Amino acid sequence: MLTADHLRSQYLAFFHAKGHTVISGSSLIPENDPTVLFTTAGMHPLVPYLLGEPHPGGRRLTDVQKCVRTGDIDAVGDASHLTFFEMLGNWSLGDYFKKEAITWSYEFLTSPQWLGFSPDQLSVTVFCGGEGVPKDEESIAIWKSLGIPSERIYALPKEDNWWGPAGLTGPCGPDTEMFIDTGKSACSQACRPGCRCGKYVEIWNDVFMQYNKTADGRYEPLKQSNVDTGMGVERTICMMNGSQTVYETELFAPLMAQIRAMATVRPADEAAAVRAERIIADHMRTSVFILGDPKGGVKPGNLGANYVLRRLIRRSVRYAKLLGIAPGYSRALAETVIANYRHVYPELEAARETILAELVGEEERFEKTLASGQREFDKIADALRQHGQTNLSGRTAFKLYDTYGFPLEFTEELAAEQGLAVDRAGYEEAFKKHQELSKQGDANFKGGLADSTVATTRLHTATHLLHQALQNVLGPHALQKGSNITPERLRFDFAHHEKVSPGQLAEVERIVNDIIARDLPITCETMPIEQAKAAGATALFAAKYGEEVKVFSVGGFSKEVCGGPHAARTGELGAFKIQKEEASSAGVRRIKAVLT
Ligand code: ALA
Repeated sequence: MLTADHLRSQYLAFFHAKGHTVISGSSLIPENDPTVLFTTAGMHPLVPYLLGEPHPGGRRLTDVQKCVRTGDIDAVGDASHLTFFEMLGNWSLGDYFKKEAITWSYEFLTSPQWLGFSPDQLSVTVFCGGEGVPKDEESIAIWKSLGIPSERIYALPKEDNWWGPAGLTGPCGPDTEMFIDTGKSACSQACRPGCRCGKYVEIWNDVFMQYNKTADGRYEPLKQSNVDTGMGVERTICMMNGSQTVYETELFAPLMAQIRAMATVRPADEAAAVRAERIIADHMRTSVFILGDPKGGVKPGNLGANYVLRRLIRRSVRYAKLLGIAPGYSRALAETVIANYRHVYPELEAARETILAELVGEEERFEKTLASGQREFDKIADALRQHGQTNLSGRTAFKLYDTYGFPLEFTEELAAEQGLAVDRAGYEEAFKKHQELSKQGDANFKGGLADSTVATTRLHTATHLLHQALQNVLGPHALQKGSNITPERLRFDFAHHEKVSPGQLAEVERIVNDIIARDLPITCETMPIEQAKAAGATALFAAKYGEEVKVFSVGGFSKEVCGGPHAARTGELGAFKIQKEEASSAGVRRIKAVLT
C-alpha cells in the first residue's frame, strides 16, 4: 500500500535530490490575483516567478499544493474527478527544460526505488502543434529515447495538450501528460488517453511554459523557458494501489464508510446512489478545506468564492437527502475530514470551530428554504407539464434563487430529473437586472470583494483612490497586484521594490483624504476595452479584444476599468487611514487601510 503521506514525502525527496528547494504550498484562496477565485494549480502562486521575478528558493522548486477546481464539478461522482485535490509539483524557473523534466518524471514513475509503475502501463500525450506553435517533436524524441513506443505516444491538439493561464492572461505552453492504463478494455476504437471512459487515468502533467498570453490574445515568448508540473496525489495513490476509484483510497475510505452508515435509503438506481455518496464526500472535503484555509474570509454567500462554497454545501445537502441522511450530517463528516488530514494540514484543526459552525449554519439555512422551495418547484413543474411545456423560464429560475436560495445548477438538476430544461441565458439576464436594480454591483464581479455591503463598496472606492495616489507618489510602476476587501478593511497589493517611507505613506493618505473632502462624483461608463485604454483608463485585468467593460471615473482624479460596485460620491467615504505597510511577496508591497 502506498499512502498519501508516503507519496508526498517520496516526491519531495526525489526532487530535492535533483537540486530542488522544497517550498511550502500556498493558501487555497489566491493572494494576489483577482482573476481566479481559488488556487487551481501549483503554478498559480508562482506566476510572478514564472514571469521572471527571482524566487528566494532559487530556480528549482518543489511543493505540495492544495487546489480547488470546480470546472469539472459535473464529472464528480466518476472514479477520478474531484473538486479538491492535492498537487505535487516541480518547477524550473528558466533552468532545466524538456529533457530533464521528462526524464525525471519517467524515473520517478518507473524506477523500483520510487513508484515502480511498469513502463508498459504508461501512455503519454504531447502537443500536435497549432496557434503558431510547432508540434512537440522534442518531447516525442525524449519519450522514445526512454523506451516508450510510438504507439503509446499520442500527439493531440490544444484542448488536450496545452496548459492555459488560469486567468485570461499569463504564462502558458504545450504540455506532455502521463497516463496509467488501468487495464480495462477500451470503450471504442477511438479510446485513447484523455477519453473519459476510465481506461486511462491521467496522473501527471509536465508543462513547458514558454509563452505569455497577452490581453489581446497573442502568445509572446517569455523571458525564460519554465517547467511547471503537476501530479495528482489522490489519483496516483489510487493507481499505485490498484484501486478502482479515488474513493477507495485512505483519503476517502473513512468518509465513504460514514456516509454509507448514515444513509437510510438506498435508491433503486445503484449507479445514482454511488454517485450521490461520492458527491457528498467530495463536496464536504472541499468545503472543509475552503473553510479551514489559513487565509480565511470565504463564507457561504452569493458572490464569487462564497457562492462556490455555498453551492458545494447545498449540493451535498441535496444528495444527502437522496440517501435519507438526517440533517446535521455535515458536522460528523467534517470531523472525519479534519481527523484524516490534520497531521498534514494543521490549519484544519485550528479552524475546527469555524468549519463546523459554518457548515451546520449553511445546512440549516438551506433546510429552511429547501422545503418551501421544493413545494414551489413542484407546483411550477406540474403547471408546465399540464401545459405540455418543457422549458422553465429564466425568471422562474431566478425567483427560485432569489427567494428560496436555489443555486441555478441545483434548479437545473431538479429540472433535468423531470425532463425540463432551464433557460440559462434568461436566468442570467434576470440576475443582472436584479443586480443593477439593487445597485449591488455586477454579477460578473469577482475581484477581491467579500460582499457588496455599503461598507465594502466604500472601501472599494477607496482602493481606486489609493491606487491612483500611490502612482502619483511612487511612480507609474506602482500598479495593483491584488486586493481583498471586507466590510471592515481593505487590503491592497501593488508593485514596488522597497518599503514605502512614512513620509510617502503620509502623502498618499493626504491625497486620498483630499479627494474625499472634495466630494467628487463617481461615474460609470461602458465602452469597448480599446476605447477605455485610449481614454487613459487603468485596465489591469485582461479583457478580450472588443469586449465591453465598465470604466469608473472619480472626478478627473482616477479612471479605472472595474466591475464595481462603487460609492456615488467620494464624500460618503469618511476618513481614510493607512494601518500597515508591509512586503507581500518579491517586488510586491501590501497596504492595509480602513475608513473611519
Ligand atoms: N499546471 C499544470 C496542471 O495543473 C501542471 O496540470
